[in-house]
Amino acid sequence: MTRNNLNARRNLGVKALDRDHDALSDHLGSLENALGVSDFDPGEVETALVELLAHIKEHFEREESWMRRINYPGMRFHAKQHQCLIEAIEEFRQAFSSNPTRDKGEYVYSMVEDLLVEHTLKADRVIGGFVGYRRQIFQN
Ligand SMILES: [Fe+2]
Ligand SMILES: [Fe+2]
Repeated sequence: MTRNNLNARRNLGVKALDRDHDALSDHLGSLENALGVSDFDPGEVETALVELLAHIKEHFEREESWMRRINYPGMRFHAKQHQCLIEAIEEFRQAFSSNPTRDKGEYVYSMVEDLLVEHTLKADRVIGGFVGYRRQIFQN
C-alpha cells in the first residue's frame, strides 16, 4: 500500500483520531494505486474516489460526534470546514467524471491529498492540542 503525506505526518496524539486518519490514508492510497497501474481504468479511479468520499464523510461524522462529547469549543467552525471540504472534494470527483483521464485523475488526487493533509495537520491538530491542554489542567 502506498504511503501518502496524510499517513506520514498525521500523528495528533489522540489514538482514536489517529486510527481513523490511518484508515483515511489507506483510502487515499487506494486512489493513488488506481491511478498508478499500467492498464489505467477510469472506472477503478471513479470507484476509489466514491469510496474515499464516503469514508471522508463517515470520518467527519465520527470526528464531530467526538468533538461534541468532549465539548470542544471550536466544534461549529470545525464542522463547517468539514462541510466545505466535502463540497470541494465532490466537485473534484465530478471534474474527474466529466474528463476521466489519468492526468485529470492525478490532478484530482493531488488536490484532494493537499486538502486532507492541510486540514488534518492544522485544524485537527488544534483539537489534539486542546485535549492535551485540558489533560494537563486536570492533572495539575
Ligand atoms: Fe480528521
Ligand atoms: Fe476535522
